[in-house]
Amino acid sequence: MQSFIELGCVGNRSCSVLCQRMLKVVWAALLLMANVCVQRVQANESQEAKGAPKLGHVSVVIVGATGDLAKKYLWQGFFHLYANQVSSGYTFSFYGGGLSPKDKAAPILFEALKRVSCPRDLSEERCALVKEQFLKLAEYRQLKTVEDYQALGKHLSEHPKGEGIAEAGRLFYLSVPAFAYADVAEKINASCRPAEGVWLRVVLEKPFGHDFSSAQLLSAQLASSLRDEEMYRIDHYLGKQVVSKILPFRRENSKHLDPIWNKHHIERVEIVLKETLDAKGRIPFYDQYGVIRDVIQNHLTEVLTLLTMGLPANLSDAKEVLKNKLKIFSALEHLESHCAVIGQYKSYNEEVEQELNKTKGHYSLTPTFAGIMVYINMAQYEGMPIILTSGKMLDERLGYARILFKNDIFCVQKHDSVHCKPKQIIFYFGHGALQYPAILVSKNLFKPDLMDTEWKEVTEQKDINVLGMPISNYYILTPMVQREAYAELISQIFQGRKDSFISAENLLASWGFWTPLLHSLAKAPPRIYPGGVENGNMLDFKLLGRKVTFANDALVFINQDFTGGSGGQSFQVMQGKYRNNDMVSAWSEELIVRLADDLQAAAEKAVRESGRFHLALSGGSSPLALFQRLAQHQYTFPWRDTHVWMVDERCVPLTELDSNFRTVHDHLLQHVKMPYFNIHPMPVQMNQRLCVEEDGGALLYEREISQLVNGSRFHFVLLGVGHDGHTASLFPGSKLEAHGNSLVALTESPAKPHQRMSLTLRAINRAQKVAILTMGKSKHELITQLSRVKDKPNSWPVTGIHPTSGTLVWYIDYDALLG
Ligand code: BG6
Repeated sequence: MQSFIELGCVGNRSCSVLCQRMLKVVWAALLLMANVCVQRVQANESQEAKGAPKLGHVSVVIVGATGDLAKKYLWQGFFHLYANQVSSGYTFSFYGGGLSPKDKAAPILFEALKRVSCPRDLSEERCALVKEQFLKLAEYRQLKTVEDYQALGKHLSEHPKGEGIAEAGRLFYLSVPAFAYADVAEKINASCRPAEGVWLRVVLEKPFGHDFSSAQLLSAQLASSLRDEEMYRIDHYLGKQVVSKILPFRRENSKHLDPIWNKHHIERVEIVLKETLDAKGRIPFYDQYGVIRDVIQNHLTEVLTLLTMGLPANLSDAKEVLKNKLKIFSALEHLESHCAVIGQYKSYNEEVEQELNKTKGHYSLTPTFAGIMVYINMAQYEGMPIILTSGKMLDERLGYARILFKNDIFCVQKHDSVHCKPKQIIFYFGHGALQYPAILVSKNLFKPDLMDTEWKEVTEQKDINVLGMPISNYYILTPMVQREAYAELISQIFQGRKDSFISAENLLASWGFWTPLLHSLAKAPPRIYPGGVENGNMLDFKLLGRKVTFANDALVFINQDFTGGSGGQSFQVMQGKYRNNDMVSAWSEELIVRLADDLQAAAEKAVRESGRFHLALSGGSSPLALFQRLAQHQYTFPWRDTHVWMVDERCVPLTELDSNFRTVHDHLLQHVKMPYFNIHPMPVQMNQRLCVEEDGGALLYEREISQLVNGSRFHFVLLGVGHDGHTASLFPGSKLEAHGNSLVALTESPAKPHQRMSLTLRAINRAQKVAILTMGKSKHELITQLSRVKDKPNSWPVTGIHPTSGTLVWYIDYDALLG
């Protein structure tokens, strides 16, 4: 084995210093080895007597050994494992694996290994010695091809034999992108599986999938190479000292907690992870995942289950813990998009453009902040809000779970008396004002029991505030020695303990819960926030029954030249002119609110005047946020008297995801209460075929409009505009004059599906109000171009929109307007 101690010698240290040091180290190593031999014999005897796993050689392979995670945490964790086990009778070898050739990657690995630090309880001298040993035992191996794995497998078997030691186990840590898991697992199975009686443990880092079906697929793929007991899916939050003490704390203090751990006493639960860093450097991963998949679906959800699950009789019985967790998952109330608020820090999009080589104007909707409210449908917790929130680029780095209890005492005077203060228990994961992990209990609740000798009570404290209360108001428990989460979990993997790892069932239950919300938010525009303290309170959110909304409307500073406002609304929008028509502009979120308000005003007016409201809607992604808004505020909208028509349709069955009607149905119609016969999809499918001229679908729709809509004048037509200037399904070059007096026509799109049905310019221009909604940076160039072109409907169909006796308003968000 070419070890790093050899590599280190070719480095730039002066030889005499090195030689002296080496002598010292060699002497100490001899002592250590003698010690290890004696201890190994003793340990082997006592282990065998107990029937415990046999001692011997353990090979550790980190695949992805020079990646960020490995450099930051994994080598450190394995070094601690080695330092703690060095005298236990086990022997080790460590292999850093990666795709790069050895000459490139080995020096990088060596640098990372040199940086590992010792556990606190090791003296400096012993630390230096153990570290030198560790470096000797580590080497880099290129792991790219089947042959590389075959050579590794052979080496793993032969190496202990050559040293005359029995093999105890092989530990593979996959610190590689998830798409590589199945392939690496297959190669391990085919070439690196140890002989019978020697354990194999394969550690997998998240992400374990992207949603329910991808997680299911990944589980199935992995299951074809590895047995469930061989897989350790890691969630480093479960290795955090405070998180792993949640269940023991609940057990130890059950006489105080049992009577109050329920909806009658708990006001709400908050599980929070705030970060000050951005996602720079990780965008290829982050942009596909976003904050919910990155930390909420896993870390914060795990904390949620630990806080709320029934206490198992045996806390370290992984099966029982899982059973109780699954009960919580099955009782979690289904999440809709109105249960969440999402945000994105201002410079995120630029980072995406840079790291993903996107052209200017690319518009990522990936949220970097989310606040979500969850309820558990169980008698014990019914109606008790649980808030999960996390964000990048916030004002401080801090993680905690807080149980805020109701305070039933009304204080008339002396509000600083202990019993007037908030009653809370805080599981403080670390960072923030306190800077160390701790469990804090308000003094007006109870004095907590110390859980074991590894924890102590903190009695001397600096004068600081923790979550709004002076620290002196809490009893505080903290671990005697602070340990890194990864080091803790690596030690558990080594011991074969599975209670702090994510089982396949647990994983799928979690994705099953989060996937519908993720899908419903896929196209929702996040609120843009400046980052850091400048966020002020723009990310605060409030709970309105089962919904959450941002507590403050985003304030937009507008140019003095722009006139008007939003008619007394608390947010500011600007009004102006665009292509000689009225224009309303604001940040996307406020723009949608404004458009929804205008739509509602038009609906109320129409219903007042004529008893019904005829609304024609477009498909596409721009109106989705509007549909969501309308669905959320459905109770005040006159849906009962509204007729919904389609502006255009793709010639596909209405049930297909491509269909515009399907989009309107999924995002709006299925959520609102309106008579079934007020819904008018376009008849694109007749006689079991799609959009055939002679079937007369267009004519049929035209007749339906003429019969039901007074003068065929819709009250409101909602349009979008495509990058090529098309609107409805009227595309450049479609010879619009050929539509003559028709209100509905079959048209052709350059994009698939090519065949369309569409309202004609004539039908649209008859409407009383037409709104054109345009959002996103990607539309900026189009908006600039359109501001210059004259009316040329055949090249730019949208320029043909001129309601004959109605009004046209452009709704353009700031991204589209200002780029
Ligand atoms: C990781 C996420 O799992 O957790 C990161 O991928 C996040 O985005 C990190 O920063 C937070 O962990 P900690 O331990 O710093 O709270």
